[in-house]
This record gives sequence, C-alpha cells and structure tokens, in this order.
Amino acid sequence: MSERTVIKGGTIVAADRSYSADVAIEGGKIVQIGTDLQGDKLLDAEGCYVMPGGIDPHVHLEMPFMGTHSADDFESGTRAGLAGGTTMVVDFCLPSPGQSMLEALAAWEAKSQRACADYSYHMAVTWWSEQVFEEMEEVVKRGINSFKHFMAYKGALMVEDDELFASFQRCAAIGALPMVHAENGDVVATMQEKLLAQGLTGPEGHGMSRPPEVEGEATNRAIMIADMAGVPLYVVHTSCEQAHEAIRRARQKGMRVYGEPLIQHLVLDESEYRNPNWDHAAQRVMSPPFRDKSHQDSLWAGLQAGSLQVVATDHCAFTVDQKRFGIDDFTKIPNGTGGLEDRMPVLWTEGVNTGRLTPNEFVAATSTNIAKILNIYPRKGAIVEGSDADLVVWDPKKSKTISPATQQSVVEYNVFEGREVTGLPRYTLSRGVVAVDDGTVCATPGHGQFVKRDAYPEVNKALSKWKALTAPRQVMRKPENMPACA
Ligand code: URP
Ligand code: ZN
Ligand code: ZN
Ligand code: ZN
Repeated sequence: MSERTVIKGGTIVAADRSYSADVAIEGGKIVQIGTDLQGDKLLDAEGCYVMPGGIDPHVHLEMPFMGTHSADDFESGTRAGLAGGTTMVVDFCLPSPGQSMLEALAAWEAKSQRACADYSYHMAVTWWSEQVFEEMEEVVKRGINSFKHFMAYKGALMVEDDELFASFQRCAAIGALPMVHAENGDVVATMQEKLLAQGLTGPEGHGMSRPPEVEGEATNRAIMIADMAGVPLYVVHTSCEQAHEAIRRARQKGMRVYGEPLIQHLVLDESEYRNPNWDHAAQRVMSPPFRDKSHQDSLWAGLQAGSLQVVATDHCAFTVDQKRFGIDDFTKIPNGTGGLEDRMPVLWTEGVNTGRLTPNEFVAATSTNIAKILNIYPRKGAIVEGSDADLVVWDPKKSKTISPATQQSVVEYNVFEGREVTGLPRYTLSRGVVAVDDGTVCATPGHGQFVKRDAYPEVNKALSKWKALTAPRQVMRKPENMPACA
C-alpha cells in the first residue's frame, strides 16, 4: 500500500473557482478531495492556497546556442522551477540544420535524465526537406505535438516563409501545434550591420536592432500563414503591443492563435540596456528585447482580457563570462535570461497583489491554459481526482527579496535581483512527492518523467472541420454554360 498524503486546511484555487477542501494523494495522483480527510502524512495548508503546480512551456536547458550552451541544465533548471512552484517544464529540442529530428531527440532525452520535475519537449523545425516532413509524424507518435519555428536568428535557426508554410501545413495534417519566435530575421540582421558600422557595439544596440515593428510584422505574417495552412498557432514570448495587436485582431476574427508573454517583459523595461554597467546591460540581453514601459500595460491587459493566455519565462541563463563573449559586439552576447524560479512569485506580486489578476486568473496563466493548449489537461493543470499530484501550497504572506545568493540557477546574477516578492510556495509537490518544504529544496534528480502529449487536440479538429467546410471549391459548369468555341 502506498503512503497517503493529505494537504489539510487550505483553499483550493483552480482556474474556474476557489473553495475550502483537503486533498488526498496516493501513488503520485490526487485520489480524493473533501473535508476532514485523513492520511499517513499531513501537510498543513492553513492560510494557504492549494494550486496546480506551474507549467513553464518555454525553457532552454543546456541549449546549444551562439557558440556556447545555456548554463542551467535539466537538474538545476527544474530545481529552480520547483523552488518557485513550477512542477513541469517544456524545453525545445533543436536539431541543427541538416540533422535528423530523431537524432536530436535522443540527445535531449540523454540531457533530461536528471530532471527533478516532469518535462516535455517542443520539436524545432530548423530546416526543411522530405526527411523533416516524414520525421514530424514519428515525432508526434513519440508524444511531442508542437513544432517551433524561428523567424529570427538568420544564418542559424531561422526558416523562410516557404518552409514555414510547408511545415504549418504538415502540422495541420498530423494534428500538431506550430509555434513561432516571431521577429523578422532579415530586418534584424540588416539593422545589426548598420548599428555596428556606426560603431555602436554596446548592449543597447540589441534593443535598437529589434524594435517592436520587427516583432509585430513577423507575428502578423505567421498568423496569416497559419490561417492559410488551416492550423492553430502559438506565438512565444509576445513582448509588445504590435505583436499583441496582431494576435488580438486574429482572435477576434475567429482564428485560433495563442500569445505567451514572459514574466520578464511584464515587469522589466528597455532602460536596463542603458545601464552604465556593461555587465548589467548584457545580462538582460534577450530576444525579443525588453520594451518601453507602455508595452507592459498592453501585455497585462491581454492577460486580463484573455487575448494572451500564458505567462512563461524562456529561461535561458548564461553566466557572466558567457555574456562577455559580446564585449566588443552586441550581436555576440548570448541571448537569454533566467526566470524559472521567479515567474510565479513575481507574477503573484505584480499581478494578484496589485489587483491586475485574480488568483484564479493566475492559475489559468501559469498552469491550466497551457495544459489545455498542449493537450495534457486534466492530467496536468487541474486539481481533480485522477490528476497528477503536481501541486503548490502557496503562502500569500510569505516574502523574500530575490537574490542570486539564494537562487537555484547556477548563474551569478538575477534579472529580478533586489525585487521584494510576497507570495511563495510553502510546499511544492511533484507527483505527490514533497520537493520544496518551506523554502528548502529537497528534490531528487531523476524523479522527473517525460510527459507524452497526444496530437489532435479538440481545437485542431474543430479548425480542420471548419476549414474543410469553407474551403474554396471548383465550379462544375455544364456544357451548355460553356462558350461554344471551347
Ligand atoms: O533570447 C532568447 N530568447 N534566447 C533563447 C532563444 C529564444 O529565442 O527563445
Ligand atoms: Zn553542443
Ligand atoms: Zn525565441
Ligand atoms: Zn526561447
């Protein structure tokens, strides 16, 4: 008989409602929800909210990128996630151009063996061929139902529009979800050359080379191409009003488009790149860059209105030394920042504690919405009998000041350093096992499991049905309606 753990005396906060109840867990699953439940092991949730563990659908752990590898691996990355209440991450499997997807997948499987929390992958389409077309179906069979496309990083990961359209059509046929990093890579490359030619080599050039227009254009282009292909679209790291506007407009026309702001873009702005300290500015270089503050209002409003659905991190942390690769040239600063440990506490502090989000909206944006989009709901993202016991007992009164000295990430700094947060995990449970106990991380490397995600979510099926019904049709003309000379 497996041990029965009961989380007692808390308020369950789900995406749809809040109510007082105990939660009983056995064998890694939620087995009962009710009052006065008994168990072998009791976890006190008095004064706390019991929420579905966070799902971060956008992380890069040990990512080969810009001549190096991101510093956090699946062990330190998932530890960081758990410390902040995140119980599942989705990484990006990146075949190098020309490489087999299945070969890349084997490499990612090897890297994730020491994960402390559950994980999945999106597969990236970094080149196009008959082989890629064929392998996409096999990838789906292995439980990966989403494919990422980079419209930026020219000469490295970027794909062209014809490849995008071919891949989106393939996604439609195999019931998968295409995703885009939406920035116009050609325009960015030209802007970078121009700035460097003017002698502008510092990190402020990063933001100047990738203005919001570059993102708005690519977002709109990807949306239109996805509509032509008859497939839903997920836009990662939506950072500005121009991209949000394109998503909002498309959704109002009935298109199935999702937008994912990052916690960084919700609270940090472009003034970071003008910091007189080079290291400070370079440590904040990521793509898309931080924006003027006005864009933050747009992103918060999108979360409130439902035009943006998910808050992620794009956790891709580089050390001080790695960032210094770009000391003479901002285009060589590895792009990426951390955030896995801070996403939920910062979103709670800046969202719920300010009244911009309800606790239920917080759960939707950090867990439930993405579980539905990725077709793993209600195994993940829900508190119902039968769900995985990936849970966070959230203490809304617990405070700390974010500091690299106490973080799980292996890098020496933190883009949220010095920020006071109120709202932190008392406990984080990964499939029923306590992985964080009052700030102490007691996670086990290797405990994390790969989560298979089936193809053909309902949204894909509905959209395919609608597209088939409304597709342009050939006009069958009778001979008597044809000109005599034909
Ligand atoms: O700057 C970023 N975002 N680095 C990670 C790779 C990506 O574009 O998501
Ligand atoms: Zn490598
Ligand atoms: Zn990206
Ligand atoms: Zn990313």
